[in-house]
Amino acid sequence: MCGIVAYVGPKDAAPILLEGLQRLEYRGYDSAGVVVSSKGLKVRKVKGRVADLAKAVPARFKGTLGIGHTRWATHGVPSDENAHPHLSADERIAVVHNGIIENATELRAKLEADGVVFKSETDTETLAHMIARTVEETSSLEEAVRKALKSVVGTYGIAVIDAERPGEVVVARNGSPIVLGIGEKEMFAASDVAALVRYTRQVVHLEDGELAVLKADGFHTFASGGLETAKEPLTVDVEAGHYDTGGYEHYLLKEISEQPETVARTLRGRLDDRFHIAHLGGLNMDARATRSFRRVKIIGCGSAYYSGQIGAQLIEELARIPADAEPASEFRYRNPVVDPDTLYVAISQSGETYDTLAAVQELKRKGGRVIGIVNAVGSAIAREVDGGIYLHAGPEVSVASTKAFTSTAVAFALLALHFGRVHDLSPADGRRIVDGLAKLPDQIEEILKQGDRIRELARKYATHPSLMFVGRVRGYPVAREGAQKLKEISYIHAEAYPASELKHGPLALIGPEMPTVAVVPDDELLDKNLTTLGEIRTRGGNVLMIGHREPEAKLADDVIVVPKNEIELDPILLTIPLQLLAYHAAVALERDVDKPRNLAKSVTVE
Ligand code: F6R
Repeated sequence: MCGIVAYVGPKDAAPILLEGLQRLEYRGYDSAGVVVSSKGLKVRKVKGRVADLAKAVPARFKGTLGIGHTRWATHGVPSDENAHPHLSADERIAVVHNGIIENATELRAKLEADGVVFKSETDTETLAHMIARTVEETSSLEEAVRKALKSVVGTYGIAVIDAERPGEVVVARNGSPIVLGIGEKEMFAASDVAALVRYTRQVVHLEDGELAVLKADGFHTFASGGLETAKEPLTVDVEAGHYDTGGYEHYLLKEISEQPETVARTLRGRLDDRFHIAHLGGLNMDARATRSFRRVKIIGCGSAYYSGQIGAQLIEELARIPADAEPASEFRYRNPVVDPDTLYVAISQSGETYDTLAAVQELKRKGGRVIGIVNAVGSAIAREVDGGIYLHAGPEVSVASTKAFTSTAVAFALLALHFGRVHDLSPADGRRIVDGLAKLPDQIEEILKQGDRIRELARKYATHPSLMFVGRVRGYPVAREGAQKLKEISYIHAEAYPASELKHGPLALIGPEMPTVAVVPDDELLDKNLTTLGEIRTRGGNVLMIGHREPEAKLADDVIVVPKNEIELDPILLTIPLQLLAYHAAVALERDVDKPRNLAKSVTVE
């Protein structure tokens, strides 16, 4: 949700800012802007993509300090005026902002009553005016920013520059990430390390309430009260190449294709052939603590929530501990009862989804024990939880989640195995799961080989305006994720239903114009699922079945057969063809696959 980048050093800032914004474009891409400082502020901002901004920046846009922004609109439509940076009326102060100022209407009314004329509809512009009002009375930009932020209710990651102080950038964080990058006689800041790794691997994550002053020769960080904080730089083990398309046409196809390797990385060093257990040292939980909770509650948003539903079933099946998943965005608003006998599991690829983070904070405030399943190392959620499992799936750049989804499901299988073997899962069943997990990377490779055929099927089914997705028990979260992928990147309407519920209402929608994608694993529910397929076809509905074998009777128009694993692990494999189906449907419809309309990758607003 909006990307911020800042630079101060000896080099020309604009190319560095533009390159950084390109890396952050997954966070928002409806407008973009940059400002550099050199004898006054020079600004360019446009509605559109970073590439459009780059075209609008003239060759003589010189300055060795600057800030930039790529936007996902909240207050005000995407337009040149609403694009960041926002400037104070005297053009002395420039601000870029990620987050939401909740009391912006009130702040704006006060400023307008004092004669301030606004140029945009954004909440951010209030900040530029407020900082400009205090900067003359205060001894530093840092103090002016801190004073202005005292009146703000809401979330922010901001970067601020002052035309009168051309050697420093002030950044601050509350709820929206800010990472500092430490270079040789130069400093950077950004919403994500993605924008920094081309220049430095030495980073410092700001905490909520912290503020930092960056100058070419170093940085200082301060707590909200103004006291200086001591921060140790971390070395990030991500390479710039991880953020490239690697020769694929889209990041999404690259990330789908990487899954044999990313699943292997999630498993690496964690499977034990001797005791048939999983090694999960990051949980920070001994066997006694592991036995002590009676329930597991999983929270996450969107695809993370659907992978949590797969996780809940794995935990119930393998560990026989009651488990369920709920959207974090709902959980946090319903004043949940926090039970001391429940283990809470928060899932997030980015580690910064605001609803999930807020749910974790609410849980911790009430004394709940929370672990995380997170991809982004050192992210806000990873730092907030009591322990957890890192996915090690590498950066996920495409807005639609794929490799993080499968790795999360694999992490849940490890967690369920771990809990199960501490409880009553037999060594024989433990071995069955360990062996099944080890087979996954090769089996995913097998499914990927069907890419051409799935592309043909996608072209056929993408001609319909609406698709039904069904699955039963283990297949249901897979169907939900399949529908989610299709709608978000192809914009085809898709609805996911438990197969068992079809006849209680939505069967009325079925007919030749609405095909069904049915997830039909070869498990104890196979016959029930085949009966559902019969009911659909009797009503003239076409069926694309994802399963482990062709049904004997002609119950499906098309079948994608995937390799069989253990029944508990099959949902992981059944997901892969649905990712490819959505991808190829989106390509066939000429959609912007990696940056679907209205969306952004890290949802850091409520
Ligand atoms: C769907 C998708 C979203 C995310 C959700 C949570 O493809 O990407 O539904 O899964 O916004 O994001 P994280 O996992 O970063 O918390």
